[in-house]
This record gives sequence, C-alpha cells and structure tokens, in this order.
Amino acid sequence: KSHKKPKEIELNESLNKFYIDRLLNLPSYHKVWEFLKNRNINKDTAEEFEFGYSTGEEIEKVLEDTLIEKEIAVNSGLIKNDRDFFNGRLIIPIRDNNSSLVGFAGRLIENVNSPKYINSQENKYFKKSKILYMYHKTKSIIQKNDFAIITEGYFDAISMYKMGFKNIVAVLGSNLTKDHAFELFKSTNKIITMFDMDKAGEKATISSIDLLFEKGFQVAVANYDAKDPDELTKKHDKKYIAEILKKSYKFHEYIVDVKAKDYDLKNEFAVEEYLKEMAIWYKKIQQSNRFEIMEVFSEKISEKIDREKDFVKKVLIELSK
Ligand code: CTP
Ligand code: MN
Ligand code: MN
Ligand code: MN
Ligand code: MN
Repeated sequence: KSHKKPKEIELNESLNKFYIDRLLNLPSYHKVWEFLKNRNINKDTAEEFEFGYSTGEEIEKVLEDTLIEKEIAVNSGLIKNDRDFFNGRLIIPIRDNNSSLVGFAGRLIENVNSPKYINSQENKYFKKSKILYMYHKTKSIIQKNDFAIITEGYFDAISMYKMGFKNIVAVLGSNLTKDHAFELFKSTNKIITMFDMDKAGEKATISSIDLLFEKGFQVAVANYDAKDPDELTKKHDKKYIAEILKKSYKFHEYIVDVKAKDYDLKNEFAVEEYLKEMAIWYKKIQQSNRFEIMEVFSEKISEKIDREKDFVKKVLIELSK
C-alpha cells in the first residue's frame, strides 16, 4: 500500500475545497442557503459536514490549479458536457469508513424535473455497497454506546446526529450489504434500523434485518410517526425520539406484524399461507440457535392469529421441516 494518495482522492479533496469556499461565500439570500434554512441546517452544521455548492465551473478551476489529468475527472464522473457534473446542486461529500474523500452527492435545491440526488461515478474507492455515510465520524461513538442506528439518507443521519443521537450511519439509499454488516460488526452487534416509513423503507427493513440477524446481530426496528428520521426530528424533541428508540420492535416481533399486513387473517387459507411464511423465519431463528426467541416468536404469532401457542408451535415445526 503506497502512502501517496490516489489521484482520484486528491482531485476530490481539491474540488471539495472549491465547493465549500463557494457555498460559504454565497449570500444568505441565495437559493442554496434558503434550501438549507428550510432543512434546519445552519452555517455551522454546513461546515461540520463539509457541504459545498457547485456553480458549474469548479472542476475546470481545479484542473487548472493542479496537475491532475482531465481523464481522472471524466472517469470519476465529475465532468459532464465540459461542465461540473454537480452544477447548481448542494454538494455533500462522502468519506469512506477510513475518512478518505471518495465521492460526492449533489442534491437538487429546486423543484425541477431531474433526479433529487446524483453521485460521483463508482470506482474502486467509491462503492456505495461498502460505504456507510458518517461511519468514519461515528464509529467510536457506536463502539462506546454499543449500538448503531441505521438510516436511509444523508439528512436523516445528519439531523439525528445534530439532535444528539450520534451513533448513527446511513446506507445511501442502497440496500444494506454484507460488507456494511461486516464493517458495523467491528463496532457493535446491536442495531436499530430506522428506515423511511414507506413501502421502500419497509422492504429495506425486512431485507436488512434478515441479513443482520443471519450475521449474528441483535436487531430492532424503530417505529415512528413521520416520513423519515429527518422529518421526525422536526416534529418531536430529543426525549420523544429517545423513547421511540427505546420502544423499538424486536426483530421477530416486527416480522410477525409487518407480514400480517399482507394476509387477511380472518380467512383460514390466508392464515395457513401466513404461517408458511412465518415458518421460514422460524427456521432462520432456529438455525441461529436463538431458542429463547423461538418461544416469543411463537407466542406473538399465536396472539396475532388468535390460536393456542402449542398449536402454532406444532404447525411452525411441521412447516419448517
Ligand atoms: N438516493 C439517491 N438518489 C436518488 C434518491 C435517493 O442516491 N435519486 C439516496 C440518497 O442517499 C438519499 C437516500 O437514497 O438520502 C434516501 O432516499 P429518499 O428517502 O428518497 O431521500 P431523502 O434522504 O429523504 O432525501 P431528502 O430528505 O433530501 O428529500
Ligand atoms: Mn426513502
Ligand atoms: Mn423517495
Ligand atoms: Mn427519506
Ligand atoms: Mn428526507
């Protein structure tokens, strides 16, 4: 491993300085500051998270300033039609788990018909499937608290962090992967997922808890009354959110409830189908040797479908053979 920084990272660092400088020199009535104000982000927070702004000229200036070849910028997706790729967007720098500046996100600040977020091109340093946003900053806190909260988005992680829940990371919209889990496991084996409270968030929750459980984590799911954690922090105070985290669903309780929504449990045949699905999870729990969970899992299902626990257990054992 060479001690010299890769040019891709060097380019990002130089570019980031330009973006930050640009943002800090824009007047407070500029639309990007209006955007930030609406999102409760002040100058200090913008500086802490190294936010920047692109006016379309930054990449060209950096290439003039440094000896980095244009090809590197093109391959990193930083140039498009000879302009800065992030033109007109709020810049959110993305550091990997070792603090290297590996890429950027650009967020739209106006309502126009274009993707809300765009990213640097993936390369051998910038891989969304490996990076947990903010982990480089929060992993020691995660270690100390011995649990991590996982969110979907940049602003979710930032606003939770600002509120004092600093044991936080975000997965950048992509699914939680084995690599993410492996990284987190170095710091803790306890996770609370706090994905968005919509259908996509629900899917992400189910696939994440499946993966995390298999990897040996203790997993819980935060259940809250807002679209996503960022909006939750605007609706409620710290004490309320701490309570929400404390009352998180245990993973097996969550599965019983969330899957029940897919079935009409007054119908005998639907109950059977539901139990088939529960048996798959029962087997996963059994295979992980967490027998105490198997008990409460059966208990919870028996309440859900209003049958004797012994009957439920018998069926689950039969179906999971
Ligand atoms: N995302 C992305 N590209 C998109 C949409 C989303 O990369 N076009 C990623 C971003 O990391 C985003 C996360 O997925 O933060 C979650 O998506 P979403 O819930 O749609 O966005 P929010 O984080 O809620 O964005 P905002 O609050 O800024 O509207
Ligand atoms: Mn979402
Ligand atoms: Mn969305
Ligand atoms: Mn969201
Ligand atoms: Mn949001």
